[in-house]
Amino acid sequence: MDRRKIIIDTDPGVDDGMAIQLALNSKEFEILGLTTVFGNVDVELATINTLRLLHIANRNIPVAIGAANPLKGTFTYGVPFVHGDDGQGNTWVPKSPLKPIELSAAEFIVQQILAHPGQVTLIAIGPLTNLVLALELNPTIADVVKEIILMGGNAFCAGNATPAAEANVLSDPEAADIVLGANWQVTMVGLDVTHKVFMHNSVLEKIAENRTPLNAYVASTFPFYRDFFVKANKIEGTYVHDSSAIVYCLKPDLFETVQCPVRVETTACISKGKTWPSLGDSDHEEGDALVPWKNRPKINICVAVNSSEVIDFITQRLIQS
Ligand code: RIB
Ligand code: CA
Repeated sequence: MDRRKIIIDTDPGVDDGMAIQLALNSKEFEILGLTTVFGNVDVELATINTLRLLHIANRNIPVAIGAANPLKGTFTYGVPFVHGDDGQGNTWVPKSPLKPIELSAAEFIVQQILAHPGQVTLIAIGPLTNLVLALELNPTIADVVKEIILMGGNAFCAGNATPAAEANVLSDPEAADIVLGANWQVTMVGLDVTHKVFMHNSVLEKIAENRTPLNAYVASTFPFYRDFFVKANKIEGTYVHDSSAIVYCLKPDLFETVQCPVRVETTACISKGKTWPSLGDSDHEEGDALVPWKNRPKINICVAVNSSEVIDFITQRLIQS
């Protein structure tokens, strides 16, 4: 079977850990590497957490360190109240002996896309800064990357980091606006669907019964993260953000999409980080109102999902040894 070549850009993050495990358990993938970025935690901790996951999984996959800050401004805060101070549910498991490669995330992304023209799918489950840095390093990657699948944004629903914005986009709205405006194939797996993919505590408990080293570790990071959701969202479980992007890559038929250009609010106002789709025919509408969307590529936006099938798929893959 021709395996699908992927790079995962990640900011582990509790749900990133489950998504990485899901990818590691999916034989359809040839994981070329993981690239790290600030977001849930600083990039140093994101890298430590990524290396630990691969060490526990006993997988020798390159890890390249990425951006420590957004394109504009500096990274000043993670979300310790969601993912824990360590980004892994305050489990504080010792770091692994593995080391990242010398190349930066942007250099690694460019290297791999040019080495495998038309074959590499970039799955971004954190802020999008590394993707922009890679584009700036070598703009031709837009012509030869297979697809960008990103967990982020909220096209037709409220945000989670603020009433307006989803966390990954809010962490670097300028980067998101550039990624959503570049001439490459992009699918946005945003809150429009991830807030419909709900993993009940009973499913988390069933998954945790599998005591293989990686599954036991990932399951140990969830109680803190789950407690946040119980308190913040009054739900008995968690929404499934990053793993939904992995599932989209493997089973896109479980999702419904619409195609339209998307802009990101980047000015410092209460709507900063909101992703705004334009359903109108922005290239032919008269007047200047739709100018910001004119000549922007149409993005594949996930707007509906068969959430029970997604949960079943994830559960099956995670309880495998
Ligand atoms: O909004 C959810 C996203 O923000 C997920 O990627 C989660 O890990 C955080 O990074
Ligand atoms: Ca993430």
